[in-house]
Amino acid sequence: ARVLLVSSEAVPLVKTGGLADVITALAVALRKVGIDASILMPAYPEAVRNLGETVQIGLKHGLPGGAGRLLRGTIPGTDVPALLLDTARFRQRGANPYVDADGVEFGDNALCFADLSHAAVAICAGETSLPAPHVVHANDWHAGLIPCLLKLRGLDHIGTMLTIHNLAFQGNFALGSAEQIGIPQHLLTGDGVEYWGKLSFLKAGIRFSDCVSTVSRNYAEEIMTPRFGCGMDGILSFRKLDLRAIPNAIDAELWNPANDPLIARNFSVGNMKGKSACKRDLQKLFGLPVDPFAPVMGLGSRISHQKMADVVIEALPGILERHPRLQVVVLGCGDHDYEDAFLALTRQYPGRIAVHIGYDERRAHALHAGSDMLLHPTRFEPFGLTPLYAMRYGAIPIGSRVGGLVDTVCDADLDPQRATGVLFEGERVEDMQHAVARAFALYSDNERWQSIQRNAMSIDCDWAGPTRAYIDAYAHVADMAVRPLF
Ligand code: ADP
Ligand code: GLC
Repeated sequence: ARVLLVSSEAVPLVKTGGLADVITALAVALRKVGIDASILMPAYPEAVRNLGETVQIGLKHGLPGGAGRLLRGTIPGTDVPALLLDTARFRQRGANPYVDADGVEFGDNALCFADLSHAAVAICAGETSLPAPHVVHANDWHAGLIPCLLKLRGLDHIGTMLTIHNLAFQGNFALGSAEQIGIPQHLLTGDGVEYWGKLSFLKAGIRFSDCVSTVSRNYAEEIMTPRFGCGMDGILSFRKLDLRAIPNAIDAELWNPANDPLIARNFSVGNMKGKSACKRDLQKLFGLPVDPFAPVMGLGSRISHQKMADVVIEALPGILERHPRLQVVVLGCGDHDYEDAFLALTRQYPGRIAVHIGYDERRAHALHAGSDMLLHPTRFEPFGLTPLYAMRYGAIPIGSRVGGLVDTVCDADLDPQRATGVLFEGERVEDMQHAVARAFALYSDNERWQSIQRNAMSIDCDWAGPTRAYIDAYAHVADMAVRPLF
């Protein structure tokens, strides 16, 4: 069977978040069991550079945003075919493909990503030299128009699936853009693609795909409630019978302290000696005093409102005062105001907190390997790969009791035998400080801490299970009878 995964990101071509990790890992896992999976994504300059050698494939017709062509290559280090949609607009995108240097969203995003969906439809319609897929698997709003466009073209024999990696990003644009991007007037209703007076790519995907999925069981429940539904809880509840939860997994080879080439010394659950060398390495890398007895708390994520950067910034002074030996290491980038506030804290608490603004794999691995704890607060979390990476390295997560974290992190108070971390409720400074204090109480009990580390390092995070679940969903949508649009 042929499956076309459509996404805006895939490692190692382009990545701004967990989506990129998941797309490539899933494609690799699918191919391993004989599914002919390939990835369609935009030809951002960085992606073209990282893909290496490509061949050009023409499109029979133009796209709403102008001319386009496909560049076909193979994702480095894998056997996954990648198709990059090359348009003049995507060619202009910089380091962050969604926003400009000031963090403002590009004005032509509707057109750019409509092009991506139209290119997928062209492949499905046989308007390229590529064979049509049996199933199109759209990911996030960037690919949201595909199911609707396929149905408009009468290509109902191709199964469609939409995976929501983050409901907060919806691709909502002026209704006036509909005509230009190929959405007919009669679909601009509440029962179509209209959402609070906008045209929503994500809603279009939820409304018209044969199956909708999201990346953890708990998030699948949450998004049908007003608190987490981002205004889409109604339509999601309406599609409840077709809504699946397929939890992510992680690349257990890439994130393996036993043979990770990016860390100072390898270690494993049976031999933790190397972890102190990694702590030393982390302290040096971030310019903190080398102190084997200082507990180190890492924080590695997009620096954003979602990840509660505002609360962390306010809570850190109190945390540093309450735990006098603690060192804090922050790695991330995002909202410039929060970045500045983190940098200001390093001046206020020299030798206690170090911050690196940027995106950096080497530092990410060093962070997990050298930290004792990972602070991972978040207002919502569809899955949350970072805490799993940390757990693999024996860095114990202190996270929010939301979304996928509820499924992946077992709170120490909830089940002392199976504990892998500390989860807390609330978004207040005190909630976070209290959770850190709880983690410190566990940390001071050596035996207890080691047992939590052992549990955390042994979590099951394999792609085999999720891959089976995706294949089951693909089989289901491929088998579905041809249905009319309404
Ligand atoms: P989200 O996708 O919401 O950002 P996840 O935790 O699921 O959250 O995935 C984040 C991914 O991005 C992980 O692979 C994490 O290691 C990576 N990441 C985030 N910030 C950085 C950074 N500054 N440097 C390196 N990797 C980062
Ligand atoms: C999103 C979510 C994150 C999830 C990732 C991969 O970026 O915010 O929780 O792990 O997608 O599905």
